[in-house]
Amino acid sequence: MTRRAAVILAAGQGTRMKSPTPKVLHKVGGRAMLDRAIDAAQELGCDTIVVVVGEHSPAVGEHVKARLGQGAIAVQHPPLGTAHAVLAAKDALKDFTGDVVITYADCPLLSAATIEPLFDLHDTGAGVAVLGFEAADPGGYGRLIMGEDGALRRIVEAKDANDAERAVRCCNSGVIAADCRVLFDLLAEVGNANAKGEYYLTDVVGLAVARGLAASTTFAPEEAVLGVNSQAELAVAEAAFQSHRRHALMTDGVTMPAPDTVHLSWDTEIAGGATIEPYVVFGPGVTVEAGATIRAFSHLEKAVVRPGAVVGPYARLRPGADIGKDAHIGNFVEVKNVKVGEGAKANHLSYLGDGTVGARANIGAGTIFCNYDGFDKYETHVGADAFIGSDSALVAPVTVGEGAFTATGSVITEDVEPGALAVARGRQVNKPGWVEAFRTLKRANRKPK
Ligand code: UD1
Ligand code: MG
Repeated sequence: MTRRAAVILAAGQGTRMKSPTPKVLHKVGGRAMLDRAIDAAQELGCDTIVVVVGEHSPAVGEHVKARLGQGAIAVQHPPLGTAHAVLAAKDALKDFTGDVVITYADCPLLSAATIEPLFDLHDTGAGVAVLGFEAADPGGYGRLIMGEDGALRRIVEAKDANDAERAVRCCNSGVIAADCRVLFDLLAEVGNANAKGEYYLTDVVGLAVARGLAASTTFAPEEAVLGVNSQAELAVAEAAFQSHRRHALMTDGVTMPAPDTVHLSWDTEIAGGATIEPYVVFGPGVTVEAGATIRAFSHLEKAVVRPGAVVGPYARLRPGADIGKDAHIGNFVEVKNVKVGEGAKANHLSYLGDGTVGARANIGAGTIFCNYDGFDKYETHVGADAFIGSDSALVAPVTVGEGAFTATGSVITEDVEPGALAVARGRQVNKPGWVEAFRTLKRANRKPK
């Protein structure tokens, strides 16, 4: 198979985002747009990926370095246009032979499946392949100018277009593929005599055709190639992502009575047969297995919910929460780094942090796992079938044995052996008639006004 490479353009300033965070590190579906572009390139089987970054945002370079290594960074300075940006990647591709695709790091919905047909270059005999779309409002996009035979002849940028060209609605998404050597040969010829005084990548199409090479086009829905330039457009991309993912989950058999209120992450996994009630937020890293129910207004992050378990309403699962089969986590219960056993219940107002809860154990209302002393975290282990009385404070490290009870209101600082009852609270004393005696004394001592 022909080798594949990707050049991801990320050197734009992103000034319209008006944010100290570089544009391409803003997230869609909880994942940085840049990472989504890299994911797509990896999914396409690109063995070489180069990200073109500007000098103005070192955070972008750091991000690329952490994920792909220093070799994947090409710096473009100053930014003189998209062709100039691709040329910045030339050195990083000097040992590469094969096909290369250019993508943008600010197109968060661009998927490998949408790009894949561009790689049919050799089958279609194309020198360059362009991903186009029909724009509802072509505005500032580059226009795809076709010949009488319907084949792509050149791309004209909006600022350079005449009225007839401006009326064309077939636009350039920006994604272009070509044989690597052919591409750099063409790029060497690109000039900047145009309205913006920039080196346009899009000029390679006209240059290819002039050399007798064919230019092919593949079309995608506009939504699939959506670019982000502002916070408002980021929200539009997010909405499109959410809608797409929810739809896919429902297609897979997930019940979601109010899908528009459910917020998903890029990697949320929900099995068919699970139910997600309204207003549930999934942070990254959540798996919900078949037959589980996430009730309304719950927030989950890096957690697993096993078959038949019920979480919420108003529950919070934090990283490391593993809710066992048929277990119940109820309202205002927070679980962090705790494995909750099969059929266990914590139905009301509790904090379970760091430890384990055995199968069928019952955690009473208001229970707290006191896991932190300001320096270190410690674990609490509650055995199978244990019963933790309401308002118990379990001071970690501590273990409550299988089938043990803790009395309501106890502060448990020592391990409780299996089957034992632990009472750790002041004993109640009732003083009959005390109130009347107290009042009588007070009234007698009251000074006249
Ligand atoms: C570009 C295309 C246009 C297309 C549109 C789709 C060109 C000349 N035009 O226009 O045909 O319809 O995208 O959105 O290619 N970048 C760099 N270095 C630069 C300039 C840009 O890395 O010197 C990066 C930007 O960060 C961005 C991408 O390239 O990721 C596109 O640049 P942008 O300035 O947005 O191009 P458009 O004018 O939108
Ligand atoms: Mg743009």
